[in-house]
Amino acid sequence: MSVDIQSPSLCIGIVGTGAMGRGIAQIAAQAGIRVLLFDALHGAAASARETVVATLGKLADKGKIPAEALAAATGKLEVVAKLDELASAQVIVEAIVENLDVKQKVFQQLEDIIGAECILATNTSSLSVTSVAAACKRPERVAGFHFFNPVPLMKIVEVIDGLLTAPWACEALLALGRRMGHTAVAARDTPGFIVNHAGRGFVTEALRILGEGVTDCWEIDRIMREAAGFRMGPFELMDLTGLDVSQPVMESIYHQYYEEPRYRPSALAAQRLAGGLLGRKTGRGFYAYASGKPEAMPQTPVPAAKPARIWVSQTHPEWADVLREIATAAGVIVETDYLPSDEALCIVTPLGADATTCCVGQGLDPRRSVAIDCLFGITAGSSPRRTLMTTPLTTAAMRDAAHALFAADGSPVSLIHDSAGFVAQRIVACIVNIGCDIAQQRVAEPADIDRAVTLGLAYPKGPLAFGDALGARGVLAILEAMQDFYGDPRYRPSPWLKRRALLGVSLLTEEA
Ligand code: NAI
Repeated sequence: MSVDIQSPSLCIGIVGTGAMGRGIAQIAAQAGIRVLLFDALHGAAASARETVVATLGKLADKGKIPAEALAAATGKLEVVAKLDELASAQVIVEAIVENLDVKQKVFQQLEDIIGAECILATNTSSLSVTSVAAACKRPERVAGFHFFNPVPLMKIVEVIDGLLTAPWACEALLALGRRMGHTAVAARDTPGFIVNHAGRGFVTEALRILGEGVTDCWEIDRIMREAAGFRMGPFELMDLTGLDVSQPVMESIYHQYYEEPRYRPSALAAQRLAGGLLGRKTGRGFYAYASGKPEAMPQTPVPAAKPARIWVSQTHPEWADVLREIATAAGVIVETDYLPSDEALCIVTPLGADATTCCVGQGLDPRRSVAIDCLFGITAGSSPRRTLMTTPLTTAAMRDAAHALFAADGSPVSLIHDSAGFVAQRIVACIVNIGCDIAQQRVAEPADIDRAVTLGLAYPKGPLAFGDALGARGVLAILEAMQDFYGDPRYRPSPWLKRRALLGVSLLTEEA
């Protein structure tokens, strides 16, 4: 069995012409593929065609596509009034309501209409492809073809093989995704596939940090943007998506994995959802939106008084050198003895540990100790956001002195309460760990996991490359310290991460 995806006469059918169906229709038509549009709602397919044609028209007006391409693509879009009229399609993509029974019924109806070699593809994001296929006479030609919204801009598609899907069907869909100009990656039929599975770390760990009272949501967002390099903070993202969408996804994936602690949602988000604080769409989420813009959140003012002298822990000598350089440049005396004097502000640089554990372990006075996160790059001179963390006993004077010192060169500083793994270390370690476990479960090839995440979630790096950039051993150390501190299996390292860290090789390393 096979479908000639490169054929100039290739014809696909789209069932369900809402947000997703029309996006898929647009990129298919732009790729020169004949597209038959069907929707159960009278007039919906015609209206979808009009929308796509208008979008293409705007692109042509802006010079983004040539006028001939507009005419060619428009000519490829045909509205059909009955499901029977999809008989000539070689691939049918279903993008109807997210309901297993309805999807199964549509596929059963289609099986009586389509040709023997026609592929039935579902755009489902949360149902099992195997379950959708289970109602079909020939489940081997049913596969997942999971696009992201908005389809023309989100240039990634996951091709999912159900347990009974034949390899030829997936190969054809991978080729079709590429012909449509997208990066197509193969994934096994598992809850969340790649992208929605990999996205579990960012938001759930941020909610945990907030729930633990470590700091405010806007400070977490600032740290994740400015120190860790994410385009958007986790709370900004939840406000954009809307908790009515993100909370059910968090719960669904958690339950589909039988309460896997790594994906555990937060009671904080459930309460906000119940209270209607959905995000931008209701004008109030984690932020309030006056006239569509988020309210400005407070910045802790920089105190004036720098410390007279500091002492820096030598746990990470390369970081200690930079910290001493920063202090010297700020005119602060740097102590170089093995132990600090009784007056010195003590600076510790934990990896995964909290400030308390770190300074007690090193025999330092917790009243005079402040921790700084150096994992995301600490440089002398004005640099990206620095995160400082206090013990429960750090005095206000010592905290403020540390703040004044590390802000003296113009660098922005976030002050947080004690937290095993600060903010960025915690969140990124969870992202890397989940990415590693996706690889461990053989859901997808390691390089495809990174490709799918960078395109689907716009993270600065894929989870495996992120782990490599920070150092797999360091990420392992963070997770082990967090697991040790919290006693929560949520932080248990994936075997994929553990073995590659022990071997000192890239997290992208596959077995022979
Ligand atoms: P939508 O509500 O915008 O469009 C669904 C369309 O399907 C409507 O026009 C409706 O009239 C039609 N429809 C419903 N039942 C039908 C049936 N039995 N036969 C023919 N047409 C029928 O929905 P949207 O957002 O486009 O989602 C469609 C599918 O894509 C769902 O399975 C969804 O989970 C999935 N998906 C959605 C994403 C999103 O961000 N919106 C992202 C990825 C996947």
